[in-house]
Amino acid sequence: MSFPTNQFPLSNKTILKHLETLRCVRCSEALELTDNSLRCGGCGQRFPIADGIPLLLDTLDGTTQETAGHMEALFRFPSFYRFKHGLLKRLNKTDDLVMSDFLQQKKIVDVGCGPFSYGFDVTLPHSIVGLDLSPQFVRAMSQQDPENLYLVASAKKIPFADKAFDTAFLRFVIHHIPGDTAELLREVARVTRGHLIIFDHVRSDVPWQAKVQTTYWKTFDSGHHYNSMSEWDGLLKPYRVVEFRRTGKMFGNVCQIVLDLTAGSPS
Ligand SMILES: C[S@@+](CC[C@H](N)C(=O)[O-])C[C@H]1O[C@@H](n2cnc3c(N)ncnc32)[C@H](O)[C@@H]1O
Ligand SMILES: [Zn+2]
Repeated sequence: MSFPTNQFPLSNKTILKHLETLRCVRCSEALELTDNSLRCGGCGQRFPIADGIPLLLDTLDGTTQETAGHMEALFRFPSFYRFKHGLLKRLNKTDDLVMSDFLQQKKIVDVGCGPFSYGFDVTLPHSIVGLDLSPQFVRAMSQQDPENLYLVASAKKIPFADKAFDTAFLRFVIHHIPGDTAELLREVARVTRGHLIIFDHVRSDVPWQAKVQTTYWKTFDSGHHYNSMSEWDGLLKPYRVVEFRRTGKMFGNVCQIVLDLTAGSPS
């Protein structure tokens, strides 16, 4: 499908690049681009677009744009979040996974993208879609990277067709989302045909270490839950895990995981 792009404002051109794979979060049908909204061809629902940023939330299921918790208030202030991120990286001395194989020439979705791209070698050719519940973060990303599409959407209902992306990132997001993590992973795997890369935390099984970690997380993070190794094992059992790295000074509190979905994903 091709569209006469001069009929839309410049900011909508990034939407047009992805229109074929964008889907309604209510009924999964394809969307049409109108002047200032995306309209579902199936159920007729209109999703507004403000300054080139689509708001693709299913308001019927109670998903709101706001996140909760004292540290999550940071999600309304991109520069504070960036500062906190730099500080924790120095404190924790994490050693990051080399990601070029998952970026080069790939179509990427960054789920819970936050307000800045780190760990990405931006010189590698790739196409990225970022989604986040925080409109402030999405706006910050969109301003820094106007060539790519950033939108307000939930990781629990990703507004894209099955297997629309080569690589999906879920970096430090899982522990911020309440509810069923297995279901969340299935939703991200649904839109991914290549690799799913997860950065998150691991709670130590040694009680005093877990206590130190919990104090650290309560102070700096305020996530909802932090999985132990046995909880990670259970969550990842249905997947082909090609890498599971532990890093971080706080008793290996950071995990970096690569799942291979090229042979399909669990339903
Ligand atoms: C700790 S930040 C991580 C941001 C970025 N990935 C990074 O590594 O710096 C967690 C992010 O998840 C987002 N988030 C929380 N719940 C979400 C949901 N249900 N769907 C999408 N994003 C969500 C928050 O707004 C926030 O940007
Ligand atoms: Zn619909």
